[in-house]
Amino acid sequence: MKGIVLAGGSGTRLYPITKVYSKQLTIIYDKPLIYYPISILMLGGIRDILIVSNRETIPMYQTLFGDGAHLGISISYKLQEAPNGIAESFLLGESFIGGDGVSLILGDNIFYGQLDFFYEALKRTEGATIFGYRVNDPERYGVVEFDKSGRAISIEEKPKQPKSSFAVPGLYVFDNRVVEISKNIKPSPRGELEITDVNNTYLREGKLRVEKIGRGVAWLDTGTPEALLQASNFFGVIEDRQGLKVACLEEIAYLMKFINKEQFEQAINGIPRSAYRSYLERILHEE
Ligand code: DAU
Repeated sequence: MKGIVLAGGSGTRLYPITKVYSKQLTIIYDKPLIYYPISILMLGGIRDILIVSNRETIPMYQTLFGDGAHLGISISYKLQEAPNGIAESFLLGESFIGGDGVSLILGDNIFYGQLDFFYEALKRTEGATIFGYRVNDPERYGVVEFDKSGRAISIEEKPKQPKSSFAVPGLYVFDNRVVEISKNIKPSPRGELEITDVNNTYLREGKLRVEKIGRGVAWLDTGTPEALLQASNFFGVIEDRQGLKVACLEEIAYLMKFINKEQFEQAINGIPRSAYRSYLERILHEE
């Protein structure tokens, strides 16, 4: 299974923060936002990751992550010339995906909690799995409609009158057909290759599973300054209480056995003296 992080876009809604800076690099408590989605793919055991982004931001991600070797994973990069839609990532990632399945996560999506819903989806070899998460403001997202038996019957992108309260988070698991399907969809009226059109194609073919994510999992919004502050506070509280970091990529690489103890030590040695480094040293010695 390959992993794609879509982390470009224009980010105009967060102006002026995003005038000179990428949204996915804004700080969520003690680390850049993009660490959180990357951590989800790594926790799913995905070690081959493509970051799709714009010309300005790719060099910054390269500075942050390099080729991923220090994390025991491979990170490569692909330019998206313009924000032509989420589904364009499968066209840009075609050779990266090769003959494999692929999980896509949006670079501004944060999940926290028990991730079994994701791990189970990764085990399936055919079709697509997307998720439904109950929110207060479904009209801002893709929205799933369910029939009386709980089966998904439609997905609408940002509907004015949502048919349910279940939004589709920016985390998707597809079989290899996603590439062909994405080639065959047409840009929407707003000029984008919509992920919702890809999902609806799978749905029409009877190959889409929509799994509801329970309330014990947090899927946090990062679309507004208030949401960014709330997310920072959320992780500040948890990290302070537990003395454990969330989305600490070096720690995850070690716990997932992507790197051994020696490589973990080497990775730590490459980090400047900081609270982040002290934390990793503690993890190394606690164990
Ligand atoms: O967050 C979940 C939602 O994400 C889903 O419920 C929707 O179905 C889906 O369309 C998407 O909606 P958004 O309005 O949040 O999409 P947005 O255009 O903000 O793009 C999401 C992220 O992907 C954002 O950080 C920028 C990046 N992006 C987006 C597009 C369209 C790109 O890097 N390139 C693109 O072409």
